[in-house]
Amino acid sequence: MKKVLFVCLGNICRSPSAQGIIEWFIERRGLSNQYIVDSAGTADYHIGKPPDTRAINACSKLEVDISDQRARQVTILDLSQFDHIIPMDGRNHDFLNQMGTNNQHKIKPLVNYLPYNQLLGIPDPFHGNEDDFDTMVQLLLVACRHALSEIENHHVLQAS
Ligand code: 4NP
Repeated sequence: MKKVLFVCLGNICRSPSAQGIIEWFIERRGLSNQYIVDSAGTADYHIGKPPDTRAINACSKLEVDISDQRARQVTILDLSQFDHIIPMDGRNHDFLNQMGTNNQHKIKPLVNYLPYNQLLGIPDPFHGNEDDFDTMVQLLLVACRHALSEIENHHVLQAS
C-alpha cells in the first residue's frame, strides 16, 4: 500500500479537501486498492469535527464528498507510518520538521508538486469567503493530479 498524508493547520479546510480530491483521482485511475490516504492538522483546535461547511460545499460541486471525515491532530507515529507526507504551507512544513528529524525525506509540500510553481503554499481559506474555498478546490485539483502522477512514478522507479 502507498500511504499518503495531507497536513494543514486545522484539518477542516485544506487537507480534508485534498484527501477527498486525490481519492477521487485514485478511484478514477483504478488504483483504490493500492492507496491509503488520510489527513491531519498540526493544531488541536478542531479534533473530532467534520470539515468546514464551506469546504464540504466547494468539494461537493465536483461531486467529491468529504462530509464523513473527522479532524485529528498529526502524531509522531504518522511520520513513520506514511510514505508521502504533504503539508499545505510552509508553517505546516516547519511544524512537521520540528516533530522529528528521521523522516524529513518523506515530506514534500503540495505546491512543490506543481510543475510551474510560483506559490509558497495553498492559501488558508478559513478567514475568507466561499470564492476562496472554490479557488482552493481549483488549486487542489491541479496539485493533487500532479502529486498522484509523481507518486505513481516514484513507486515505479523504486520497483525497477
Ligand atoms: P485549514 O484551515 O488549516 O486548512 O483546516 C484552518 C482551519 C481552522 C483555523 C485555521 C485554519 N483556525 O484558526 O481555527
